[in-house]
Amino acid sequence: MISFYNGQFLQHQEIAISPEDRGFLMGDGVYEVIRSYKGHLFELDAHIERLKNGANELQFSNSSFDTIEEIAHQLIERNELSQHDATIYLQVTRGVASRSHQFPPSDTPLTIYATARKFSPNPMSMEQGISATLYPDVRWTLCNIKSINLVVNSMAHQHAIESGAQEGIFIRNGYLTEGAHTNVLLVKHNTIITPPATNFILAGITRKVVLSICHIQNITVEERSVSEKELFTADELMIVGTTVEITPVILLNNRFINDGKPGPVTKKLQGFFNEIKENLMK
Ligand code: PDD
Repeated sequence: MISFYNGQFLQHQEIAISPEDRGFLMGDGVYEVIRSYKGHLFELDAHIERLKNGANELQFSNSSFDTIEEIAHQLIERNELSQHDATIYLQVTRGVASRSHQFPPSDTPLTIYATARKFSPNPMSMEQGISATLYPDVRWTLCNIKSINLVVNSMAHQHAIESGAQEGIFIRNGYLTEGAHTNVLLVKHNTIITPPATNFILAGITRKVVLSICHIQNITVEERSVSEKELFTADELMIVGTTVEITPVILLNNRFINDGKPGPVTKKLQGFFNEIKENLMK
């Protein structure tokens, strides 16, 4: 496998990252996961924009992301992924500096690391739905930044796995925020309801695409707070994200959502999402 590290394409196992990298020492970095469908990058500009916004919020200097598209395409080509579905993982940290809480000098080069790997979501999950468990959202309040600090996300996901479920869903002060690595939408009386894109959630790119499908298809959307209780009385519940696309949630904390089957609105949205993917590959 060929990966990218600070300007070079290298054999993955040859990459050696400094122990003084701010990403390693302090979690001082941002990342993106981008889908590639047969070599076509899904919503690349939106991913780059979000990465730039995160880097700006963390006051990264020197941030030039002009080469990302080229890096992604090179990784697809060099790893022979142009006929496959894949994910590009991209991480940028504040670079290497001896440990100090103070930011290093502004001319410290950022660390840029990227990989490409074959990837397809589980078709059975997308068709039949998954189960999820609730988890307290004890993360910081800058969840709009796609920070590499994922320990709480990982704990929520691990809790789900250990409970026999496939995703953790965060609750902050009695209200839904998002999934451990997804955004959460529910359907009630044919209306899509999802928390607004504040600093308490990541403004997911899949979420944005799904909401724009709703707009085009005249499906009413309410971006508003969703109480924990409302999740259990939803007609349909779904998670959306780069790796899960649109996946129905049929069981939450061992309680069925409605009749415990993927609902019609979720299936309709999956159909429109698949059309977008197919058009991208044309
Ligand atoms: N996660 N919320 C969180 C906390 C996420 O980590 C993600 C994505 C999303 C969905 O965002 P998008 O639609 O842009 O992928 C929402 C990535 C895939 C990950 O960490 O693997």
